[in-house]
Amino acid sequence: MKPNATLLKKIDGRLTYLPFESEKSGVFVDFEGQKLMHRVRDRAKVQSLSKAVGLKKQKDLKVFDATAGFGKDAFFLASLGCEVRLLERDPIMFELLEDGFSRARRSSSRTVVESIERMSLFEGDFLKANLQNGVWDTVYLDPMFPKARKSALVKKDMQVLQTLVTDDGSGSQMLAHAKRFARNRVVVKRGKSSPFLSEAEPDIQYFGSSHRFDVYLSRA
Ligand SMILES: C[S@@+](CC[C@H](N)C(=O)[O-])C[C@H]1O[C@@H](n2cnc3c(N)ncnc32)[C@H](O)[C@@H]1O
Repeated sequence: MKPNATLLKKIDGRLTYLPFESEKSGVFVDFEGQKLMHRVRDRAKVQSLSKAVGLKKQKDLKVFDATAGFGKDAFFLASLGCEVRLLERDPIMFELLEDGFSRARRSSSRTVVESIERMSLFEGDFLKANLQNGVWDTVYLDPMFPKARKSALVKKDMQVLQTLVTDDGSGSQMLAHAKRFARNRVVVKRGKSSPFLSEAEPDIQYFGSSHRFDVYLSRA
């Protein structure tokens, strides 16, 4: 199904989603954005993510990001050398990602071009995906955060994302599905004080400034 094209507009060469008709509210996928590049350079800040996916133990990790969103976490992992496959279910978000990928491939930054070469993008619902064809060390899940009580606490792109997709309560199914395919581990990103994604308790937890990573190790 084609997304509602009236909400998508090219602004300054970037496909932009405008949920509230004002150009100020627009969001786009930006692998060259200052914040993301800063995050890539300031690796210490995101050590919790690299530790959570298992990068300390293995350098050439293959990560399946089942909930791509704006592709920021995936891009960060690719910048550290991971091969990352991104899956996105929402058709508008997918179009924004495709546009972000094509701009990144033409970027003047070597880091951006090299990172995007390690990333592949697919459209679809993770719960219907059959991952048997690939061998994924880590399956990464960052489903929608449950609506924050104070919207000021939610970043602009996440606020906009909430106009597109909401938490559909499929968290425990997502986790069970991911566990079937992960060779080493499943990593779930959660709000710092959000409940676990399902009743299952994680084996390890890593904490960031506003979120945490729950790690479920695969049993041999
Ligand atoms: C919180 S965002 C992910 C943000 C992402 N980690 C980033 O760094 O930009 C969650 C995304 O997962 C997608 N999603 C949720 N359930 C999904 C499913 N079953 N299959 C594929 N994508 C899904 C939503 O459409 C949304 O774009």
